[in-house]
Amino acid sequence: MEVEWIDIPNIKDPRGNLAVLENSKLPFDIKRAYYLYDVPSGSERGGHAHKELLQLIIPLSGSFELVLKDGVNQATISLNSPAKGVLIPNMIWRELKNFSAGTVCLVLASEEYIEEDYIREWQDFVLQC
Ligand code: TYD
Repeated sequence: MEVEWIDIPNIKDPRGNLAVLENSKLPFDIKRAYYLYDVPSGSERGGHAHKELLQLIIPLSGSFELVLKDGVNQATISLNSPAKGVLIPNMIWRELKNFSAGTVCLVLASEEYIEEDYIREWQDFVLQC
């Protein structure tokens, strides 16, 4: 399945690189940001889909694997550059795994937290997608 990578504009500098996220240049308005950190070795996150929510996921530090499933096809990709994010559309099942030590994963979201927007059971997802 197709994966939408987002190149994050960055200013390379021998003093350290600088990456910029501007609301108007992203595919959705950012209403929420959160990040995963201190992820224990072997831990897996995600395991759900969202009915409406759009997300941009960026590995600020470290690396992990992202599995995306649309109910028929799936893609497994490695995220390891803070200058490259992945857009997760609504109604896509996601799993995050194989986190390297020290990973910090930033998630920008199109809506505030709404538990009712989650589909947490795979069987429910397959029926709805
Ligand atoms: P969840 O989205 O299931 O985490 P992940 O997909 O990263 O594995 O959220 C885990 C818990 O945190 C769940 O009880 C809901 C809560 N939560 C909030 O309260 N606010 C938020 O913005 C998010 C993302 C989660």
